[in-house]
Amino acid sequence: MKLYRLTYCSRNRIRGSAAEVETEVKKILAASRASNREAGVTGALLYNAGNFAQVLEGPLESVSRIFEKIQRDLRHSEVTVVENGVVSTRQFPDWSMAFAGESSVPATPLTIAAFDAAFGQTEGAGEQIMELLRQLVAQSDDLALIDAA
Ligand SMILES: Cc1cc2nc3c(=O)[nH]c(=O)nc-3n(C[C@H](O)[C@H](O)[C@H](O)COP(=O)(O)O)c2cc1C
Repeated sequence: MKLYRLTYCSRNRIRGSAAEVETEVKKILAASRASNREAGVTGALLYNAGNFAQVLEGPLESVSRIFEKIQRDLRHSEVTVVENGVVSTRQFPDWSMAFAGESSVPATPLTIAAFDAAFGQTEGAGEQIMELLRQLVAQSDDLALIDAA
């Protein structure tokens, strides 16, 4: 089976306080994990400084179908693909969708620079975003608000 990976960034359109937004994002996550697991999709989602970054990895057909739904979702906008293609291994094999939210990972110059690169379609933005997600997932125990896949 060919493994496919797609990384995108988008702007949050959920209104409300930071806490209200995070509650809504966690609802999205709970639903996502169930459907991703069924579809053989793993990945990670970062919500930071009003932006989302998400990695989806799995069979091409599953990643495409899920990403089509995500693109139509009005809870975010400016969905910008920063990297996509066939890969040999999963970066997040254990997560139906790992999550780093703003309350556990505050915005830093590094995260802001990565989002700027992504929305500006700067060369290397894909790797920058991927590196950011990898570090956040590896480092933060807090991210264990995660249910493993
Ligand atoms: C930032 C963001 C990330 C999302 N990630 C996923 C995901 O990984 N998997 C998923 O099934 N839905 C995800 N969704 C939700 C989908 O857009 C959609 O609402 C969901 O798949 C339910 O669609 P359905 O009821 O038509 O099946 C995400 C939505 C947003 C705003």
